[in-house]
Amino acid sequence: MSNMDKIVSLAKRRGFVFPGSEIYGGLANTYDYGPLGVEMLRNIENLWWERYVTSRKNIFGIHSSILMNKKVWEASGHVESFMDALVECKECHRRFRQDKLEDTSKCPECGGEFTDPKMFQGMFKTFIGATDEDASVTYLRPETAQGMFINFKNILQTQRPTLPFGIAQIGKGFRNEITLGNFIFRTLEFDMMEIEYFVSPDKGEKSFEDWKEEMWKWLKDLGVDEKKLKWREHAKDERSHYSKRTEDIEYEYPFGWGELYGLAYRTDYDLKKHSEKSGQDLKYYPEKGDPFYPHVVEPTYGVNRTMLTLLLDAYHEEDDRVVLKLHPKVAPFKAAVFPLLANKEDLVGKAKEIYESLLGKLSISWDDRGNIGKRYFSQDEIGTPYCITVDFDSLKDDAVTVRDRDTKKQERVAIDKLLGYIENKLEG
Ligand code: GAP
Repeated sequence: MSNMDKIVSLAKRRGFVFPGSEIYGGLANTYDYGPLGVEMLRNIENLWWERYVTSRKNIFGIHSSILMNKKVWEASGHVESFMDALVECKECHRRFRQDKLEDTSKCPECGGEFTDPKMFQGMFKTFIGATDEDASVTYLRPETAQGMFINFKNILQTQRPTLPFGIAQIGKGFRNEITLGNFIFRTLEFDMMEIEYFVSPDKGEKSFEDWKEEMWKWLKDLGVDEKKLKWREHAKDERSHYSKRTEDIEYEYPFGWGELYGLAYRTDYDLKKHSEKSGQDLKYYPEKGDPFYPHVVEPTYGVNRTMLTLLLDAYHEEDDRVVLKLHPKVAPFKAAVFPLLANKEDLVGKAKEIYESLLGKLSISWDDRGNIGKRYFSQDEIGTPYCITVDFDSLKDDAVTVRDRDTKKQERVAIDKLLGYIENKLEG
């Protein structure tokens, strides 16, 4: 069983990720996130937002609509360029993107002959209103970026920023992907965290280098094994239509190296295109000198791919346990509270008091099933950094045992110092 299979099974069994529409036989390449999964997704998003929006003076957050006027996608070049040539095997009927095949003459799965390539729109088309006439067509956004470009003027007018500055957004993207699979690595809808970073044109390359460093540091700070990360530059024919230079951070997944995040140098492509199509002036007006179109460097972080990567990277099998050594800030629960024995009322009562006093302050779990060993096993498997046990001594000394997930070391901590103790550990 590969680590991917183990993560898929753990994720389902423990409530991280469920197959989409499961009771109806599923809908391929869609997933639902359970109580633990959604905590983890939110933790990732909150850390990102805090790091890039709340802690920075010059990056402004927005939350734009998923549905936009279709002219947005005509101007951005997506209607024309977000297309792939698709071939289908006449034998096994598997479909492939022609540009991703090493040998285009036969099916890599069964050796069968291919159909002629058909162009395939990567955006989901939808209709606004009761009719499905052409006038009511729009698309589900394949990237959040365009919502930021079309609000560029609003940000200039309301926030009065000076270059360099960024616009950031977290939200859903939808892509009618042809090659799918590998669990939540590539799905039809996913969440992305994007920044459009506007700089003067002569600063574009330098900004690209700065963001390269920053994206790497974000992963390092989350504890990802750096030996499993590398940068890969896109060849010219591989780059998106808007990009002058693209580099991906790749991670070594169980199925091979794959894109985790992308960094693109979009230049003034988008602002110019939207200016032309909308007739609006989307230039930046410096204090001195002529107005101009700023250049854009765009770091994009997939939320779900971050989660998959962190789960795989954290997965460890040790002699007597499976443990997710997740960074405490992304772990679904920060701590779990147990009474040593579930049938002793005074222990349960005291443990419940502690649990309730921590509720709302920390993401906290309660467990009184099985014996203490089973509970440690169960919390290790979902990456809970601290387990708090109320034992018979607790009734006398008002202290509890706190066990560290990674070292398995136990410390005695006074109940009135417990919250501070855990918060310090989480910060440290
Ligand atoms: N605005 C730039 C942009 O959309 P991208 O490289 O196409 O760039 C950005 O996508 C990131 O979104 C990827 O690096 C990946 O993390 C995530 N991503 C892309 N397609 C995905 C899919 N089908 N399923 C899950 N995540 C995806």
